[in-house]
Amino acid sequence: MIKKYQFGKPFNTDAVVKDLTISNDLTKLIIIKDKELFIKLNNDSKVYGLGQALRGINKRGYIYRSFAIDDPVHSEDKLNLYGAHNFIVIELNNNYLGLFIDTPSMVTFDIGYTNSNELKITIDNNNYCLYVLENTNLYNLIIEFRKLIGKPYLPPKWGLGYGQSRWSYNSAKEVLDIAKLHKENNLPLDLIYLDIDYMDNFKNFTLSKDFKDLKELVNKLKKDNIHLVPIIDARVKVEKDYPIYEEGIKNNYFLTNKDNTPFIGGVWPGLSVYPDFLRPDVRTWFASKFKIFTDIGINSFWFDMNEPSIFYSKNNVDQIINNLNNKKTPFNLGDILSLQGELSSLHNRVDDYKNMYHHIDNKAVSNYILHNIYGMNMTKALGEYFQNNNEDYFLFARGSYIGAHRYAGIWQGDNYSTYQQLEYCIYQAINLNMVGFLFNGADLGGFAGNTTPDLILRWLEFAIFCPLLRNHSAKFTRYQELYRFDNLASLREILKLRYSLLEYIYDELEYARDNNLMYLRPMSFDYPDDKILREINDQVMVGRKIMIAPIYKQNQNYRYVYLPERYKQIRLRAYNDFDQDILDKGHHYIEVKPNELLIFIKEKDTLYLNTPQSNTTKLINDHIIKL
Ligand code: GLC
Repeated sequence: MIKKYQFGKPFNTDAVVKDLTISNDLTKLIIIKDKELFIKLNNDSKVYGLGQALRGINKRGYIYRSFAIDDPVHSEDKLNLYGAHNFIVIELNNNYLGLFIDTPSMVTFDIGYTNSNELKITIDNNNYCLYVLENTNLYNLIIEFRKLIGKPYLPPKWGLGYGQSRWSYNSAKEVLDIAKLHKENNLPLDLIYLDIDYMDNFKNFTLSKDFKDLKELVNKLKKDNIHLVPIIDARVKVEKDYPIYEEGIKNNYFLTNKDNTPFIGGVWPGLSVYPDFLRPDVRTWFASKFKIFTDIGINSFWFDMNEPSIFYSKNNVDQIINNLNNKKTPFNLGDILSLQGELSSLHNRVDDYKNMYHHIDNKAVSNYILHNIYGMNMTKALGEYFQNNNEDYFLFARGSYIGAHRYAGIWQGDNYSTYQQLEYCIYQAINLNMVGFLFNGADLGGFAGNTTPDLILRWLEFAIFCPLLRNHSAKFTRYQELYRFDNLASLREILKLRYSLLEYIYDELEYARDNNLMYLRPMSFDYPDDKILREINDQVMVGRKIMIAPIYKQNQNYRYVYLPERYKQIRLRAYNDFDQDILDKGHHYIEVKPNELLIFIKEKDTLYLNTPQSNTTKLINDHIIKL
């Protein structure tokens, strides 16, 4: 059962697809005092949800914030990241209570952080919709929620192939070399990504001299059925005679300061302006710019910096310079420290978002109020375009809000090459399924920092089950294409398993989309009455049949697994090199060597593996192996 409550005059975020009548009989379990909601938790109440938020599956015992932010440090203490996914489920006396706070403004979830047995939700706006769901079954409640927010976007099948990325491949020649080296090393490949250096001076919809003939590059890659995926950022370089900038200025398409002058922030190209994606006319204009790509056969993109990211604002930098110029006395230590502080806190400042204005129905509204749906509306610009034209497309973005899942996928942003980040990305992937983002994945191997052969192998053993499978790494880090590592033979066999399983993965994704299910979920969701499983978060169901128990600690070659009934354990070293065992219900401690992948299916189920291929176009459902 879902009920909708409305407070003030909420902004229509486009998160939900059902028009429910407004109720006024709020359950007594929720106490509302002004902008705060309180729910009393029992000692053993578990709390689920919040999509991309870090930490585990049970969110109890910490504080989280929905305020989209570009933050590359995904540490345990982090309150907010790129997405705002305000869906939370609380277990109360054998019942589940789900809440969706639909507002583009900041929301804080204090889940037993201040008071152990209290959930306090603070909404930074008096205008919002509250959806309340009640169900005796956790998974059924999530399914109800998913019906409310509509069917997720899924990419074409080739979008589930392996993608190789790096910030950046700097020339068409380097891209072709990447394709060649994958082929030579017998590594399957479907997509190669272009990061910002393919552009001329980081200007969207332009090409650097090293990518002058993009059409030729696309055509060469097409021979091997490899798709090129350029990045587009949510900012436009301020530069005279740059057509995108000039057109946007002429038509007032950019976010402004209070005095209606364009708001100027610093991002990769230096001084930049931000399209007002919340306006339909701006979305249509922005989408029309992709013609330069679609004309040469590119229909795959990734969107970045759309929280939106502001490294610094012109306003704040001008202020610092003014203060320095006006300073009469010589600098002392205090002055230096405060200047250091000011310079290092220029990134993503709330006062910048407050001073940045959208223009909606001729009214200026601060981005601070509408902040969390900015990224979603950039995604919507292109998603809407392709969907209206009934065309296939491949798209994922970084910043997001619930609702964006109907237009594209998301990736988890700038993670780090550590085992801890591998563990987090498992929980994030699951929690994103709850809020509709079936098409999600993290940067395989880790984005920042230097990966290691063992880490990328263990990561791959999980990532081959994630719909978005992309190896991406940052500038100045160790190159991490799979052929660079001495355990290439193992990496290759595990990657090939992705292709052997791709038909299963695709079918299960479609099934999950069509039936509002979670393609990835904790095994406990399927066995609600099993008290032991309830406490286990790292046994993951993949579609209807497969259960995986990933390894996410270095040098750990054993894995604890609990089975709620008899299961078949399959230990795969390659699609054609495996052994099987039937395991009884109960506790198991199982050896898993670095080159081994454990999967489990119910004793009576069968699973088919197909012959792996170098590319998704070559796949056939030949059911070469029956497990
Ligand atoms: C951001 C993105 C990252 C990208 C980089 C350069 O940090 O999250 O994936 O490589 O920008 O474009």
